[in-house]
Amino acid sequence: MIRLNINGQDRDVDVPGDMPLLWVLRDELNLTGTKFGCGIAQCGACTVHMDGTPIRACQTPAESAAGTKITTIEGVSGTVAQAVQAAWQKLDVVQCGYCQSGQIMSAVALLTDNRNPTDDDIDAAMDGNVCRCATYPRIRAAIKDAAKAMGA
Ligand code: FES
Ligand code: FES
Repeated sequence: MIRLNINGQDRDVDVPGDMPLLWVLRDELNLTGTKFGCGIAQCGACTVHMDGTPIRACQTPAESAAGTKITTIEGVSGTVAQAVQAAWQKLDVVQCGYCQSGQIMSAVALLTDNRNPTDDDIDAAMDGNVCRCATYPRIRAAIKDAAKAMGA
């Protein structure tokens, strides 16, 4: 049994310690907003926060998440998350949507650390999040819009 803290709640899961956190979230806890893309930490679709830092859940063993606070797209909240989600809607960022929960989790982590990111900061923070629909220009614009909305 592994005790995880997911979106502020303790959840006990009976899974092998080396099971990827992504499977635990999706298959054990029914938190399907976090997506499976590549399974090898190359696309960012599975991005969640561990103690506020973006991680790839597909390459994170469940046991390594014990004792940390995991936040998924279903639980992300607060001023930054609200600003990001509002900017995403305002600029109509989403196309197919598959990559977008990962994009939003990376954007929230970026803007939490850096309220006024440059283009280079955005490139560096978002580099690991692939979008097959090539929504990159809208993602960048939305991050800047969210920063502006927060007073940058
Ligand atoms: S599914 Fe985890 S990085 Fe692609
Ligand atoms: S919106 Fe389709 S993969 Fe990014």
